[in-house]
Amino acid sequence: MDKFVIDGGRRLRGTLVVNGSKNAALPILVATLLTDEPCLLDNVPRLRDIRTTVRLLETLGKRVVFRGKTVVVLPGPRSRRPRTRAPYDLVKQMRASVLVIGPLLARFGRARTALPGGCAIGLRPVDLHLAGLAALGARERTEGGDVILEGELKPGRLRLRLPSVGATENLMMAAAAVPGETVIENAAREPEIADLGRFLTSLGARVVGAGTSRVRVRGARRLHGARHRVMADRIEAGTYLIACAAAGGDVRLIGAEPPHLRTLLESLRRSGAQVRQEPADGGLRAGLRIRMKGRPRAVSIRTKPHPGFPTDLQAPWMAYMSLARGKSSIREHIFERRFLHAAELVRMGADISVAGRTAAVNGVPELRGAPVMASDIRAGAALIVAALAAGGESEIHRVYHVDRGYERIERVLRGLGARIRRAKE
Ligand code: UD1
Repeated sequence: MDKFVIDGGRRLRGTLVVNGSKNAALPILVATLLTDEPCLLDNVPRLRDIRTTVRLLETLGKRVVFRGKTVVVLPGPRSRRPRTRAPYDLVKQMRASVLVIGPLLARFGRARTALPGGCAIGLRPVDLHLAGLAALGARERTEGGDVILEGELKPGRLRLRLPSVGATENLMMAAAAVPGETVIENAAREPEIADLGRFLTSLGARVVGAGTSRVRVRGARRLHGARHRVMADRIEAGTYLIACAAAGGDVRLIGAEPPHLRTLLESLRRSGAQVRQEPADGGLRAGLRIRMKGRPRAVSIRTKPHPGFPTDLQAPWMAYMSLARGKSSIREHIFERRFLHAAELVRMGADISVAGRTAAVNGVPELRGAPVMASDIRAGAALIVAALAAGGESEIHRVYHVDRGYERIERVLRGLGARIRRAKE
């Protein structure tokens, strides 16, 4: 297992290029199950979760070729019966594996998946995925810890109890392979859903309203191959913006999409950071530039579905606010247990108390390096943010969590002048 050793207290300066979005690439890769023709995806980040998804596609009979940031998904050797089962060892590594049930069921009339179970940040059930598929005509039973879905899906109108990102994606993919129009109300509005909508449209379905709370999908029995460029990762960009605000400095992020980051940018500006849009320049794409000096002002946030403050940036924001002048509160509305990073930040000198879904952060003038442990992807990112801003050396353990969501984070940060290295435990 690897760890990061960070010698903090240096300002970040320089330019980085934002990678393709993990959370957009995952469902788009899964959506290639909807066709037998080749698909070519550009700007796919090289991450552990992407490799897990590729293994899942291979288990389901696809052939996948990964060259640099381009992934080609091809039909595998023909088998007599389509493979429709997502095995437990992959589902337990990555909850997003459950996304395969919608497309498999819609295409082959059957899908079987292990139930993902809970995880460090909360219970995270998949009842909305299952209820949505049932509303389109699926019959459900459980066997040996697996859910088996069967039946021929029909188009329909459904309303999600809450705007789940994964359920919206699963149902959009299922609907894309069902002739007729399916309408999903109270859909999640995250930009990654809009990206999936564009991909499904290029496969030959007609998707209208992806990225709004009402998504209409006109499906087709046969979908064809397509080429697609995955959108920029707004959570990766947001993490680097917060890291620069916490450590101080001047960083340019090429390819960051300001409309996807609106609430974060507002919060950063209120905290005292200067953030501005950068036009395309020479061969470089447009992006953002952040400059920060001195301690931030305290800014409270509450996580909300998009376009609210993203839960995936809550932990890094808490690390940042640990150093603010004054008190802030952080309220987590999406995942009930997403505060495991608080106790680790306290080990670095932060003054944080948690009660239920609210954390009260009393800013301190400085954090001190310490050995700490990542409990999930974004908690790991928060500890990196804190360690970059802290005086002295920190060791961050269990960085495999970070590797699920951030491509070579240590190289990117070294490129900005940080002292960070990867070492063996
Ligand atoms: C996705 C993102 C994750 C992000 C989250 C919220 C991916 C791969 N992951 O996760 O990074 O933190 O959106 O923006 O894109 N829920 C139910 N029943 C369900 C499904 C969800 O009760 O069937 C609840 C969850 O427990 C949670 C809330 O709905 O409290 C939101 O979850 P959801 O939007 O589904 O998150 P994911 O798609 O798992």
